[in-house]
Amino acid sequence: MGKSAMEIRRLAGAIGAEVTGLDLRRPLAAAQTAELRRVWLEHGVIVLPGQMLSSDEFMAFAATIGTPVEYPFVKGLDGWPTIIEVKKLEHERVNFGGVWHSDTAYLEQPPMATLLLAREVPPHGGDTLFASQTAAYEALSEGMQRLLAGLRCVNSSAKADTSRTREDRIAEAGRSERRVYGAEHPAVRLHPETGRRALYMNVAHTVQFAGLTEEESAPLLRFLHEHQRKEEFTCRVRWAPGTLALWDNRSTQHYPINDYHGFRRVMHRITLAGDVPRAV
Ligand code: SIN
Repeated sequence: MGKSAMEIRRLAGAIGAEVTGLDLRRPLAAAQTAELRRVWLEHGVIVLPGQMLSSDEFMAFAATIGTPVEYPFVKGLDGWPTIIEVKKLEHERVNFGGVWHSDTAYLEQPPMATLLLAREVPPHGGDTLFASQTAAYEALSEGMQRLLAGLRCVNSSAKADTSRTREDRIAEAGRSERRVYGAEHPAVRLHPETGRRALYMNVAHTVQFAGLTEEESAPLLRFLHEHQRKEEFTCRVRWAPGTLALWDNRSTQHYPINDYHGFRRVMHRITLAGDVPRAV
C-alpha cells in the first residue's frame, strides 16, 4: 500500500492543486483514495507529478476513481481499449482538442472525469489551461443566474471537431462521413457530489439554446464563452513525463495550448463514465 503523506499545493485562486507524496504504482489505502477524491472535488483538477505508470497501473488507478469508458472517435491502445493516445507529431500543426471544451458534452451521459498522463513532452510549450465553471457560474449576477436556470443547451459533435489530428484527417479523407452525436443538457448543472452549480455549455459543442434559433442564441453564448475562460477562473498545467492530471468534467473546461510546432507531445488518456447532467 502507498502509505506516504499527501501534500497539496494550490495552483491558482479558483482551480487546480498539485498533489505530491503518493506513488500510484501501488494501490492506495481506502482513506488515501477518499482524501484524494475530496481534494479533487474541491479543486476541480489535480496534478500528480512523477507518476511513471505502466498502462496496467494507469488503468488500475483510474478504476479506483470511476469506470473507464471508450472514447467515441479514437480507438484505444492495443490491449487497453479505454486508453487513448493524444498525440501531436513533429510535422503536425493541429492538436487534439485544441479549443476550450469539456469532454464530449454531446453525449447523453458525458464523462464524469478524465485522466491524462504525459508520456513525451516538447522542450517548451504544450501546457494545458483549465477553467472552473463553478467559479464562472458563481461570478455571474443573480439576474443572469436566474435567466440561465431556465435554459437548456443543444450540443453536437459536428460543431467543432476536437478529436482529430492532421493525420486523422488525412486517414479519413474520402471515407464516408463520421457519426454525429447530439444531446441537450441544462445550461447550469448541479454537481451530484459537491452540490455546487456550474456553467455547462462550451464553445466546441454548444450550438444553441433549446427553443431558440442559432441566431437568437449566439449573442448570449458569445458572452458566456468569453466569461467561462476569464483568467481568474483558470490555472495552467505544465507537463513533464509522468505528470498525471485528473479533471472533473462536470465542473471544468480545458484548453491544450498549441505552441510547440516541430516537437512531439504524447499523452495517454482515460475517461470515466458519468451521469445525465441535472439542473436540480
Ligand atoms: C484533451 O483531452 O482535450 C487534450 C488535453 C491535452 O492534450 O492537454
